[in-house]
Amino acid sequence: MYISISEDFQHVILACVLAMAIGMAIFLSLLGKGEGTRRKECIPGKLGIPFLGETFSFLGATNSTKGCYDFVKQRRQRYGQWFKTRIFGKIHVFLPSVEAAKTVFTNDFVLFNKGYVKSMGDAVGKKSLLCVPQETHGRIRRLLSDPFSMNSLSKFVQKFDCMLSGRLEKLENSGKSFRVLQFSMKVAFDAMCDMLMSVTDGSLLEQLEKDVTAISDAMLSFPVMIPGTRYYQGMKARKRLMKNLKAMITRRRNGKESSEDFLQSMLDRDSYQSNEKLDDEEILDNLLTLIVAGQSTTASAIMWCVKFLDENKEVQNRLREEQLSIMRNKPKGALLTHEDLKNMSYSSKVVKETLRMSNVLLWYPRVALGDCTIEGFEIKKGWHVNIDATHIHYNPAIFKDSLSFNPSRFDEMQKPYSYIPFGSGPRTCLGINMAKLTMLVFISRLTSGYTWAVDDQDLSLEKKAHIPRLRSGCPITLKSLNSGNI
Ligand code: HEM
Repeated sequence: MYISISEDFQHVILACVLAMAIGMAIFLSLLGKGEGTRRKECIPGKLGIPFLGETFSFLGATNSTKGCYDFVKQRRQRYGQWFKTRIFGKIHVFLPSVEAAKTVFTNDFVLFNKGYVKSMGDAVGKKSLLCVPQETHGRIRRLLSDPFSMNSLSKFVQKFDCMLSGRLEKLENSGKSFRVLQFSMKVAFDAMCDMLMSVTDGSLLEQLEKDVTAISDAMLSFPVMIPGTRYYQGMKARKRLMKNLKAMITRRRNGKESSEDFLQSMLDRDSYQSNEKLDDEEILDNLLTLIVAGQSTTASAIMWCVKFLDENKEVQNRLREEQLSIMRNKPKGALLTHEDLKNMSYSSKVVKETLRMSNVLLWYPRVALGDCTIEGFEIKKGWHVNIDATHIHYNPAIFKDSLSFNPSRFDEMQKPYSYIPFGSGPRTCLGINMAKLTMLVFISRLTSGYTWAVDDQDLSLEKKAHIPRLRSGCPITLKSLNSGNI
């Protein structure tokens, strides 16, 4: 046994020496080539010991109130724009540029694919848009897309507006401070459940939200079924949720329930050919995926928007002017229409600027399916390449004065791949229209009806969160504009 190990060891050493010699020869030959040939460069960074690498530093940043992006910032300061690191046994490269983003987005599914961990697949389900292979992805995405097109969402706008207006009014009447984050998590969840499957009953919504939250928490947990762990709780919650949703589908098929909503539009395809419909597992996993992908992203963006508007009163005043001029042309108490939203030109830029600065999803992860070169840097098969949207959105060469909240910067068109809050290519956010409309309705009702004071100015971020959110949740107190305080 000992001898065989030592022989193996000799072979390994020999192989290493050979590999180093060959590597050196290739490196020198590349160095020797003339100006015209682009040199392959090694990406700087520290991989540390096998498996662990810099996992603890990453977890340290995630568990601090500076947030996990601080890990990336620190390494850029140390190594420059391009760097690599090793987290949980995987080598990660953070892609800092528009060109690199373009390369990955335009080769999605071909040279790169979304990397997902086991716990994520277990949580959202293997038929989720986030997990299925390219062939299935195309069909599922095509069939899911129609209810999320701008035209299909006009009913959603009215329902959301009605629900939001009522809840804001109640909060103003109570005179109490409330946390925008928690408030918008609840309205986003309720609005989505209504649009997707017409669930409006308070106690059912509460149960569903508890389960979806447990499932989301399990997405990035360690996948072992030990009672008490996040993963265990998430899997139990998934079982409960699926039971609930399956029962709903059965009631609809038996004619005991009917509604005009997303779920019904999927069930109406029951008699279609298999490539024109989703099977039950696909419907269930993707209902869950839509809620998980849409709730905390939209809610966090709304929270940041309120915060940015509070810090930039000129922007807030200009936004309010636009909103009041739209409201003046509507009958008192009328709900917002699609047409109204189309007229919100400055407000749309406020939404865009919020998404640029808040970077709800900090980077977009992919795995290289083979060895490749991006901008002269060598990427090996199996490495994780993360499109660093945050770095791109804060690059002063792309967005002048990038730290200031200036919606008017969107008076000018952006160059392709420089503004990517919803990603790009075949995996562009499916909820892009819904997210924009939700944010527009929110800022419309907030600024045309109220002023507000932020009750806690602490800028610390929530710990252990992969979406940057204020730890305070951004508490505010509303005052009605009708009480004459503008
Ligand atoms: C402000 C809110 C939102 C932001 C910033 C956002 C951002 C994104 C981004 C960047 C991606 C692509 C990630 C990648 O390329 O790896 C994505 C994908 C996705 N988003 Fe959103 N999203 C938001 C809201 C929503 C909503 C409301 C829904 C649905 C109701 C939704 C559903 C999805 C789905 C299903 C995908 C996966 C698409 C696919 O893989 O084909 N998102 N989102």
